[in-house]
Amino acid sequence: MRLFGLLPLAGAALLLLGMTGGVQPTVTREAFDSMLSARNVSGCEGGAFYTYDAFLAAANASVFPGFGTTGDDKTRRRELAAFFGQTSFVTTGYCYVKAVNRASAPYYGRGPIQLTTEDNYRLAGRALGLDLLRYPDLVSTDPVVAFKTAIWFWMTAAAPSPSCHAVMTGGWTPSAQDRDAGLLPGYGMTTYILNGGTECNRTSQAAQDRVNNYYKKYCDILRVGYGNNTFCQNDELAQPPSSSLHPPPPPPPGTPGGQ
Ligand SMILES: *[C@@H]1O[C@H](CO)[C@@H](O)[C@H](O)[C@H]1NC(C)=O
Ligand SMILES: *[C@@H]1O[C@H](CO)[C@@H](O)[C@H](O)[C@H]1NC(C)=O
Ligand SMILES: *[C@@H]1O[C@H](CO)[C@@H](O)[C@H](O)[C@H]1NC(C)=O
Ligand SMILES: *[C@@H]1O[C@H](CO)[C@@H](O)[C@H](O)[C@H]1NC(C)=O
Repeated sequence: MRLFGLLPLAGAALLLLGMTGGVQPTVTREAFDSMLSARNVSGCEGGAFYTYDAFLAAANASVFPGFGTTGDDKTRRRELAAFFGQTSFVTTGYCYVKAVNRASAPYYGRGPIQLTTEDNYRLAGRALGLDLLRYPDLVSTDPVVAFKTAIWFWMTAAAPSPSCHAVMTGGWTPSAQDRDAGLLPGYGMTTYILNGGTECNRTSQAAQDRVNNYYKKYCDILRVGYGNNTFCQNDELAQPPSSSLHPPPPPPPGTPGGQ
């Protein structure tokens, strides 16, 4: 009797949580640990650093309305699978906190999105109310700040690109030109936003890894379909989006779009 009385209440509370916007009902601690299981591999800094509580605290910050809480349940799950998929790719499964290659010191890659370049540290810092230009190490010493920089990048459009968030939540409609170039709503477009056109073909090993090693596994863990366009298609897209974190090398001479 007591059990039957309590269960609907618990269900209602869960529903309410979902409706009030947290990511917690979508990515439970169990799902988080399952997705990021490789972060505790020996030699990885990420295990102790990338905690579920830090993720929740960052995701919950009022500067990011809508992150993982936009649209229906499937949309929320797919957006978060995509977020963890892309961030897992650049951190090798949340193993790395700081980039191995520190050529762009002091603004080398840090945190889940591997925030790179002086511009991105400036813009992220401004958005988050932190002086990341002066204290870039905050991104590799404070896990909440680290997750916030990743969510900031995910949520922020840098013209001419839409934000990854908009792409994964139905907030972006491709133009005729985008469609001609093979840019359609789906995980593939977030690959384009993050790394430009060099990975926009199925034979790119990096694009394969982003999809097969992470995104699809995470969709399975979060129990949602992969959606359309997990790859971007065009291999002639030479112009990187201005938001690119890791700009692709210049196109070879004589390829279209290189002007
Ligand atoms: C990984 O390590 C963290 C911190 O030490 C711990 O909280 C977490 O449960 C571990 N996860 C797995 C899957 O072993
Ligand atoms: C998220 O924010 C709400 C309201 O701002 C707060 O009540 C809740 O405890 C926060 N949750 C987490 C996990 O930080
Ligand atoms: C696809 O992308 C890879 C990696 O950038 C590149 O090496 C390859 O030449 C591209 N394939 C085609 C058909 O352009
Ligand atoms: C995938 O494309 C089909 C056909 O255009 C559409 O009906 C469906 O809603 C799309 N799926 C998603 C997740 O957007």
